[in-house]
Amino acid sequence: MKQTPVVVALAGSMRDGSYTRAALRHVLDAAEQRGAETELLDVREYDLPVFDPDEDEPPEATELKRKIRDADSVIWGSPVYHGSYSSAFRNVHDYCSFDEYEDTTVGLLTVAGGGSFASTLDHMRVTARGVHAWVLPHQVGIRNARDKIEDGEIVDESIEERVRKLGEQAVEYAFIHPDVTAPDAGVDEETADPEGQQAEADADD
Ligand SMILES: Cc1cc2nc3c(=O)[nH]c(=O)nc-3n(C[C@H](O)[C@H](O)[C@H](O)COP(=O)(O)O)c2cc1C
Repeated sequence: MKQTPVVVALAGSMRDGSYTRAALRHVLDAAEQRGAETELLDVREYDLPVFDPDEDEPPEATELKRKIRDADSVIWGSPVYHGSYSSAFRNVHDYCSFDEYEDTTVGLLTVAGGGSFASTLDHMRVTARGVHAWVLPHQVGIRNARDKIEDGEIVDESIEERVRKLGEQAVEYAFIHPDVTAPDAGVDEETADPEGQQAEADADD
């Protein structure tokens, strides 16, 4: 029997009327329509203190991390704050590590009040690499948010399309097994990595 993919979305805005949260709901709707089990993880519902490695982990963080670890795909959503992601998003992320994201597919979405979101998506992408997530090339940036989302609905057709595609791809690539040197991948290990460069790169992590 085919396994049901689990897709969760992490909403990194504390704002009541958050456009990011609204957009993520549309991503999850699309994922659900493709057969996924979905859940929105809203930072407001997890009363997390600023991450402090010297403190014991609060139970809320343990619960949130378990949900992320159990997911096959995680969609990250953050508002654009000063050309980057929000501290609320980042705080959740600092509680997480390879254990949550190794072999996990991640999709990126950001929402800007103004006109520019590229640096936020870049920062999220680099951060995902830091926990060994597999990030979808397709990503969503929404500029001038108040013109694109009204009462929780996306009123711009092309944005709606991009948002839905993110949810669909989160399902399509939920079980990605990207080890190109695996025997059934049909790739000769020496040809794939003649100088052992990957082993060296892994040692740097
Ligand atoms: C602290 C702060 C910094 C912001 N920085 C930017 C920015 O650099 N560029 C931009 O376009 N909008 C910026 N905004 C506007 C937010 O991106 C915008 O309000 C967005 O809709 C917030 O997402 P949300 O609706 O999910 O909370 C900023 C807002 C705040 C509160």
